[in-house]
Formats: sequence, structure tokens, C-alpha cells
Amino acid sequence: MHVAIIMDGNGRWAARRGLPRTAGHVQGAKVVRRIVEAAARADIATLTLYAFSCDNWGRPPGEVATLLRLLRRYLLAETSYCAENLVRVNVIGRRDRLSPDLLRAIEHSERMTAKGSRLHLRIAVDYSARHSILQAARRALPGGASGAETEFLQLMNEVNHSALATQGVDLLIRTGGEKRLSDFLLWECAYAELYFTDCLWPDFDEDGLHQALRDYAGRQRRFGRLPQAADAAI
Ligand code: IPE
Ligand code: IPE
Ligand code: MG
Repeated sequence: MHVAIIMDGNGRWAARRGLPRTAGHVQGAKVVRRIVEAAARADIATLTLYAFSCDNWGRPPGEVATLLRLLRRYLLAETSYCAENLVRVNVIGRRDRLSPDLLRAIEHSERMTAKGSRLHLRIAVDYSARHSILQAARRALPGGASGAETEFLQLMNEVNHSALATQGVDLLIRTGGEKRLSDFLLWECAYAELYFTDCLWPDFDEDGLHQALRDYAGRQRRFGRLPQAADAAI
């Protein structure tokens, strides 16, 4: 099972306490460890976390710096836990705009955890789904993607999942009350079940994850076909 989470609501969590937004990000980073552990216990195979979007560069420089610093600190602190607990870490998204320090931490973490077989933890950093789809299309076409829309759509039909390096998302969770995708895993979420909760990310916990999993277990996935019982009746 592939679960993806848009970890939203850090800023509002801080504002409600009269704290700077960055305090919300500090608290939010602590929750990630708890949720990774809970995901491994829940036998989730792949967990993709949205940590920093391409559009998040548009925030004030101090907030951007805090977010990227926290991310590096998370990788440095958690790599040995992940290696010991067979959690394989990968960072998805653009790499050409990250600092050398952060890149080193990412590569170190990916190398040290490469053998992890229990949980695949994917962290989306400087990530945009539209950008990653375009990149996949460019890779698939030797001469580079053509500008013509029809050709592009034809090409996208041919781009398979491996080109985007993921299986489809089964369950997408967004905390923080907003009901939108914010350019996250647009391709992979084609048939994802969507779960929105008002809980702000720094307040999210293992119970919250279980609640989402229970909700998911009650859904009927049809993939455009008929429910199995109806299928059999025809
Ligand atoms: C999510 O919390 C963290 C990132 C987007 C990096 P926000 O910072 O978006 O928090 P809100 O939505 O302003 O409350
Ligand atoms: C999405 O949250 C990005 C991450 C959680 C990393 P945002 O807070 O940036 O999304 P919008 O701006 O509300 O759509
Ligand atoms: Mg937000």
C-alpha cells in the first residue's frame, strides 16, 4: 500500500499559539518521526511525504531557510534510525536548486538506507508534480518534448509509471483542512482515495493515521469498472 501525506497546517498551528510560523515547522518535523514509525508498524509499503513544494520558494527567505535546515537536520538525525529499522529513504523532486550541504545529507541518507526493505520513505523536496511529469516526458522522448499539445498528450499516454518512478498512490491524506492537491503527485493519484482532515500537521499522530486507514478500508475502489458483486451478476 502506498500512502502519501500533504503535511499542512504548521503555520496555523503556530499562529494559534502566538508563535512564529517557524515554531510550527519545528513541531511538524518532530511529528514526521512518529508517523514514519507508525507507518512501518501499520505495514504500509511506501510513504510519500510532501515536505517542500516548488511553489514554497515563494515564501519569505527566513521561512524557506528554516524549512530546508529542518529537513537537513531531520535527515542527519534519522538516517541511523532508518537504516536500523529497514526504512529506505529517497528524496524526490528537483535537485538542481538545493544547497550542497542538503544534497550531501540527502545522498548520505539514501546510500545508508538503500537496503531498507520494510518501508520505503519518500520525501518530496522542491517538488512539483507538473514539473516531474514534464521531466518524465522529456526523458521518454530522445529529442526532448515537443511543444505541440496533441503530441504531448499522446506521449504522456505512453509514459509508463516506471518513468515517473512510482507505483500509484492508494491513499492520499491532507492535514490542515484544505481540500486541494497543491501540485502533489498528480499522475500517481489518478485513482487514489482522498482523505482530508482538519487536524493541523503538528497535532497529527498515530491515531490520526489509523483513522485515515480505517476510512480507506471502508472505501470501495472500482477503477472505472463495476463493483465485483455487480460484475458477477451480469
Ligand atoms: C506545511 O505547513 C509546511 C509546508 C508547506 C512546507 P504550512 O506552512 O503550509 O502551514 P499553514 O498552511 O500556513 O498553516
Ligand atoms: C503544500 O502546502 C505543500 C506542502 C505541504 C509541503 P501549501 O501550504 O504550500 O499549499 P497551499 O499554498 O495551501 O496550496
Ligand atoms: Mg499550508
